[in-house]
Amino acid sequence: MKGIILAGGRATRLFPITKGTCKQLLPVYDKPMIFYPLSVLMLAGIRDILIISTPHDLPNFKNIFHDGSHLGISISYKEQLKPAGLAEAFILGEDFIGGDSVCMILGDNIFYGDQLSGLLKRNVNLQEGGSVFAYNVVNPQRYGVVEFSDDGKPQQVVEKPEHPKSNWAVTGIYFFDHNVTDVARNVKPSARGELEITDVINSYMTKGKCHVEFLGRGMAWLDTGTYDSLIDAGLFIKIIEERQGLKIGCVEEIAYREKFISKEQLLKLADEYKTSYGDYLNRVVDFRYDL
Ligand code: TTP
Repeated sequence: MKGIILAGGRATRLFPITKGTCKQLLPVYDKPMIFYPLSVLMLAGIRDILIISTPHDLPNFKNIFHDGSHLGISISYKEQLKPAGLAEAFILGEDFIGGDSVCMILGDNIFYGDQLSGLLKRNVNLQEGGSVFAYNVVNPQRYGVVEFSDDGKPQQVVEKPEHPKSNWAVTGIYFFDHNVTDVARNVKPSARGELEITDVINSYMTKGKCHVEFLGRGMAWLDTGTYDSLIDAGLFIKIIEERQGLKIGCVEEIAYREKFISKEQLLKLADEYKTSYGDYLNRVVDFRYDL
């Protein structure tokens, strides 16, 4: 399975912070935001990853990740000239996806929780159809919401419904088979002029081909699109990291634990950071049991 991180957009809700830089490069406590979605793809075992962003911001992602080989993965890059919608990722990624299935994750979504690795690994072998992760929210009016039949089967996703039929919001991680590019090409721009991911999901779901995974109580799904949610996410990460002494979204650690890189490679990466982040990487090799 291939992985795509969609990391463009305008981030107007964060103006003026994002006047000169893109949202996904902003810090969430001790690392750039994009580390979190990248770490999710890596936890899923995905090693071939495409980052899509604006022509202005893409060079900055390249400065951070280069070709990904230091993390034992392959990272390539693609420009999105205008923010034409989430579903455009599958069209821009056509050559990259090729005949494979793909997991697309939004560059501003943070997932954290005990069951995450298992949940990801369960979906990474998807060959046919789609799978989305749903999260119980208090304000479903703000999200794409899953509607279910009386016997609990997912029927469709409704974007920002006035009268939501459930509290299950679709999160920013999506698994689809290789047909997704064709599906996305058949999507018509919405009233706001974007190719909506909801239309792609519904094309699968109305045929009974889109599975829904429910993220339970033990899972955190945070987004970072507003002043408050950005600082909340940073505080959340800080509190858990300080309490446990374990980092969240530390791509170098995950590369080592997933055996994408050796102990020597990890220690070399640790050497580059003269900060507590580097100290942490040095300690990771000494952890005595699997965490
Ligand atoms: P949004 O939060 O919907 O949009 P935005 O980030 O541009 O923010 P705002 O509403 O404040 O203007 O986007 C969700 C994610 O998808 C985010 O990581 C940006 C990214 N995105 C793209 O990369 N390309 C796009 O065409 C769109 C619409 C979003």
